[in-house]
Amino acid sequence: MAKLYELLANNVAWADRVKADDPHFFERLSKTQAPEYLWIGCADSRVPANEIIGLLPGEVFVHRNIANLVVHTDFNCMSVLEYAVEVLKVKHVLVVGHYGCGGIRAALDGTHHGLIDNWLYNIKNLYYRNKYRMDSIDSEDERLNFLCELNVMQQVKNVAHTHVVQRAWERGQPLNIHGWIYSLRDGLAKDLGVSIQSPEELADEFRVVNGLKDG
Ligand code: CO
Repeated sequence: MAKLYELLANNVAWADRVKADDPHFFERLSKTQAPEYLWIGCADSRVPANEIIGLLPGEVFVHRNIANLVVHTDFNCMSVLEYAVEVLKVKHVLVVGHYGCGGIRAALDGTHHGLIDNWLYNIKNLYYRNKYRMDSIDSEDERLNFLCELNVMQQVKNVAHTHVVQRAWERGQPLNIHGWIYSLRDGLAKDLGVSIQSPEELADEFRVVNGLKDG
């Protein structure tokens, strides 16, 4: 494992390499950021946002938490989303889950983990709502991986259901929300084909813009 002084030495070497490639990179970046993407991913150390999609600092705004959940009462995630949409005006939100997610596994293992159980309760609910489909899969790994996919699909909806996103669409701001899943085994991310880019794609019960307009 690298020592802390080695990390700082790594940092100097990295900054030198970037500057050698583009002498004004940091100077330019220090003045503004204009990323087109918001990444909402798992906190897992094996799923680093920028590296996976080959983007430089300044090109992707990032929020990560255990099991890439978008919970409407989570001020952290909601604040990130609001800032990304209303100030940075990102064009795409990428919800990126990953197979073999420890958070998903922990939600189903039936043991007590501490504070995290409250967070993972969201996943237990998701499992329960899809129990019939889930239980038809024999392999435990496949069952967990299927839940990793279902979780991404649900979080894409959770993003789309926020007032922040629906107000953006109402203003005519282009905003597309995508669901991806990443494989730790081969380093490849896959689009789950569940993108949402307009309020017409939402169930009526989750559309809030008309209510906002009346208010
Ligand atoms: Co994870």
